[in-house]
Amino acid sequence: MNKQPSKIRDRTWDFKNADTKKYTHCFHSYPAMMIPQIAGRILDEFGKDAKILFDPYCGTGTSLVEANIRGIDAIGTDINPLARLIAKVKTTTIPIEKLDFYIKQFADFILTANLSDIGSELKIPSFKNIDYWFKKETQIMLAAIKGFIDKIDDPDVQDFFKVAFSETVREASLTKNGEFKLYRMSKKQIEKFNPDVFSVMLQKLLRNKKGMSEYVSAKRGNAKAYIYDFNTVHGIPQSIIPPRSIDIVITSPPYGDSRTTVAYGQFSRLSNQWLGFEDFNEVDKRSMGGVKAKKIIKFNFEPLDSAIKDIETKDLRRALDVVAFYIDYKKSIENVSKVVKENGIVAYAVGNRKVKGVQIPNDEITREFFQRNGFEHIVTIIREIPNKRMPKRNSPSNIVGQTDSTILSEFIVILKKAVMTSASSLCNSVPKTSMITEI
Ligand SMILES: C[S@@+](CC[C@H](N)C(=O)[O-])C[C@H]1O[C@@H](n2cnc3c(N)ncnc32)[C@H](O)[C@@H]1O
Repeated sequence: MNKQPSKIRDRTWDFKNADTKKYTHCFHSYPAMMIPQIAGRILDEFGKDAKILFDPYCGTGTSLVEANIRGIDAIGTDINPLARLIAKVKTTTIPIEKLDFYIKQFADFILTANLSDIGSELKIPSFKNIDYWFKKETQIMLAAIKGFIDKIDDPDVQDFFKVAFSETVREASLTKNGEFKLYRMSKKQIEKFNPDVFSVMLQKLLRNKKGMSEYVSAKRGNAKAYIYDFNTVHGIPQSIIPPRSIDIVITSPPYGDSRTTVAYGQFSRLSNQWLGFEDFNEVDKRSMGGVKAKKIIKFNFEPLDSAIKDIETKDLRRALDVVAFYIDYKKSIENVSKVVKENGIVAYAVGNRKVKGVQIPNDEITREFFQRNGFEHIVTIIREIPNKRMPKRNSPSNIVGQTDSTILSEFIVILKKAVMTSASSLCNSVPKTSMITEI
């Protein structure tokens, strides 16, 4: 039998012209989303008999949606309350007639709303810097929409409206377009910026209704998604996921600490504040690598240890950030490993990042950490990420204006949990891939 190369570059995984916004995937933008085609294809090729999927960093729930469409139950966890809300709404079917009814009510409301009349009833949240991020007129319109949402009596419909509202908050704010971090528009742009907040909200609702309708038609069976906020770094509650109970894990973990890579908390802050989520402040602190490391430690994995050493010679503080992240990542993988069944699959979509010009091979680190926990590597697929929504350039030196290319390829690391008692029969399960170039 031909031996499968352990790393392959396979263009059929690029999904260059694929529609990544079908079904409920169109609902809400979010940094570093996984494209649905990846989760879908992994499920089709490696999870044929899967009954339950787990995503330990579920974000907006891309893999949960793909699992549910295929009739597979799904469990997701994320420390960001906004991500959990979006994931819940994307996986909860609502009859379209019901949505029509509430959206019509909303359309009537905005046609007839007299803001000076309802002004006294408006509850504008009193968070710090609200006037810095929102013009006064915008605040009033957003508060009117929030007031409408608070009166919706059906909790699933209310959450559906909250997701559209969150995007409306973002678009009506004075943040620069297309940025995941919070940067304010220039003075000139602010003068000209007068968003039609009500119609933005209505457009989002109508777009999301279409996505929900596609999702309802595509979904097979009665599969459900269960979304939690536990942090896999600290353990996985057995009452939620018993040991050796998961058939397949499909996820895209953070690439590094939130200060220097993607600040999920910062991205979500304005929405979280308008929605009144209390735990939003903790997101970046609870993120992997959020608690600083006090000293450099060794991971006994040469590619990681030597990268840390190189970074340390340039900047000790950044080296400690890297150490803090991988301490958490290692613990999280140990905990995730325990809940996977024998012969169960894990698929991690990761990017390799540079810190101070030093490349950190996340794909190999992920592979190594899982192998330490009884997994056997099947394959690592390398794909280009033409449409991944995350910054392509960052500032690894943290010097303003100095940039370097960050993640341009994505690595899908796929492993299988070995059966303890007998020698592995792994090779049999390796799927056929086309257009393979060995690296
Ligand atoms: C790359 S994003 C996942 C995106 C997701 N695949 C999607 O398509 O929307 C990584 C997620 O990990 C979450 N996260 C970071 N540290 C975490 C932790 N310790 N436990 C759980 N979630 C965490 C972040 O809030 C973020 O939503």
